[in-house]
Amino acid sequence: MAEVIIVRDPIEAGRVAAAIFAQQIIANPATVLGLATGSTPLSTYAALATMVREDSIDVSRVRGFALDEYLAVPPEHPESYRSVITREVVEPLGLIPEHVFTPRGTGPDITRAGAEYEAMITEAGGVDLQILGIGSNGHVGFNEPGSSLASTTRIKALAEQTRADNARFFGSLEEVPTHCITQGLGTILRARQLVLLAFGTGKARAVAAALEGPVSSAVPGSVIQQHPRATVIIDEDAAARLVHAEYYRHAWRSAQDLLPVDF
Ligand code: GLP
Repeated sequence: MAEVIIVRDPIEAGRVAAAIFAQQIIANPATVLGLATGSTPLSTYAALATMVREDSIDVSRVRGFALDEYLAVPPEHPESYRSVITREVVEPLGLIPEHVFTPRGTGPDITRAGAEYEAMITEAGGVDLQILGIGSNGHVGFNEPGSSLASTTRIKALAEQTRADNARFFGSLEEVPTHCITQGLGTILRARQLVLLAFGTGKARAVAAALEGPVSSAVPGSVIQQHPRATVIIDEDAAARLVHAEYYRHAWRSAQDLLPVDF
C-alpha cells in the first residue's frame, strides 16, 4: 500500500513532494526524474525551484523524461507538453534542456516513437523518481480507462472527458488534440519511486477508486497499489471519499514521530 499523506492545500503538498525530490537529487546528482504536466505538479515544481536556488542543489546532471505528449502538435506549440515542461520545469529548475525528453508526437514513422522512447529511458538507466497527477476519470499519464496494466509507451486516443478537462489550455474543445503518445502503465511501474498528487473535490472519486478500489485497468491510477515505493500526497478535498483516511493520518503522524523529517 502506498503511503498516503493528507495535507491542507496544494502549497503544503508541493513542499512535501519537493522535499522528496530534493533529497533524491542530493543523494544522486545524476537522478533521472519522471515529469508530469497538468496543473497538479506546479506547486511541487515551484517549491523545488526555490529549494534548488536557496540550497544551491546541483542539477547539472539531472535528466528528465516527460510522461506524455499530444500527437500531431508541433513541439514549439505553446501547449505542447515539450513547451509546458520547458516553461514549468526546465527553466525554473535550471535543468539542461538537452537532458530533458518528451515523447515524439510528430515526425516520420510515428508508430515507432513509443519504442524509441522506451529505449531512451532504458538507456538512461530507468526513471528514479516519477511524479504523477491523476485525471478525473482515473487516468495517469494519458493512460485512459481500459489501458493494459503492462502497457508501454504508445499512441492512444484521448477520452472525451480528458479532452474536455484540457480544453482550458486550448482556445476551444475542437482545438484539443484527439490523440497522444504516453508512457504505459508498465513503464510507470518500472520507475523506482512514485509520488502521486491530487487536489480538489473533482479528484476525490478517482483518488478513492485508485487507492481503495480493486487494481483494474478501468482505473489506471490503481496501478500505484502494485508499486513497492509509492507516496500519495493529497489535500482534504481530494481525500474526502477515502474510507481509511483516519488511518492514513495516524500512520503519517506516527511515521513523523519515529523519523522526524523537516518538511
Ligand atoms: C493530464 C495529463 C496527466 C495529468 C492529468 C491531470 O491530461 N496528461 O499527466 O496528471 O491530466 O491534470 P491536472 O493536473 O491539470 O488536473
